[in-house]
Amino acid sequence: MAKPAPIRRHHHITLCTGGAQEDYDFHTKVLSLKSVKKTALYDGDVPIYHLYYGNDLGEESTLVTTFPMRQSGRKARKGTGQIRTLSLSIPQSALGFWRTRLASHGLAVREASRFGERSLQFQHPCGIDYELVAIADDQRKPYSNGEVPAELAIRGTHGIVVSVREHETSSEFMTDGWSGRRVAEDGRFVRYALGDGTTGHIVDFMLEPELPQASWTYGEGIVHHCAFQVDDYTAQDQVKFRLEGLGFTDTSERKDRGYFDSIYVRTPAGALFEATVSKPGGMTVDERIDQLGTSFQVPPPFRHRTAELMAYLEPLRY
Ligand SMILES: [Fe+2]
Repeated sequence: MAKPAPIRRHHHITLCTGGAQEDYDFHTKVLSLKSVKKTALYDGDVPIYHLYYGNDLGEESTLVTTFPMRQSGRKARKGTGQIRTLSLSIPQSALGFWRTRLASHGLAVREASRFGERSLQFQHPCGIDYELVAIADDQRKPYSNGEVPAELAIRGTHGIVVSVREHETSSEFMTDGWSGRRVAEDGRFVRYALGDGTTGHIVDFMLEPELPQASWTYGEGIVHHCAFQVDDYTAQDQVKFRLEGLGFTDTSERKDRGYFDSIYVRTPAGALFEATVSKPGGMTVDERIDQLGTSFQVPPPFRHRTAELMAYLEPLRY
């Protein structure tokens, strides 16, 4: 039997948030992430911003991306069968700094612990649950020019928490189809590790059988999907064929997302996962390294409607 397909680590996590300015200020000012790309969602006929935040180069596993949905008027429902929490990695020495900083920006902050890791829990202004998790030895380079000094700054994604009604169907998916190892349990939580199992390689599932099924649409107030890095098209094809062979046939064709190529799979619990191949050059395919994120990039599906797109999208100050 073939070895499990090579899902490496997180690539990016994508949220459906509220207003574009509110989202931009929250990520760039409060969380001190770099705006590495400003573009629009490639899908659908109504333009929606797609804002990317991360480190200096927008490298894999540092990226948080958002679709600010308020202009569309579309709301989403939280519930089970959905990624409920986005966890980001900070240095252990920065926990106190961040507690004070978040509170000074008016956020309600709660200290928590899971799998022996200390964290700060709070919410994006649109209501999405965030955690900053204290990690001892995260080698990823943070944004070097943000409001927060680099030695205290967010390093990238740590993990996600997926809300589920039961654990077993997700266990089959994660271990047989998604290269994961079931490594620990903690109360209602089961943890899976990818790759070397360190920060940026973690998927937690949380048992919440009492909740209704969450919405799948693009709509304000939810995590939309989590993307995971694969090395190349061969590995991506291997993931798709393996999933389909296991019976997980709700798997998309390869889609060109400008900066990477993606396949999407609806996991058995309902959460949307993506297996992603970065393009050579990554975020620099349409902007120079020293100009990343400084100007709006019209996505190819909207190029014939550029004037209409620019007239429609809500103003964004940056
Ligand atoms: Fe994505």
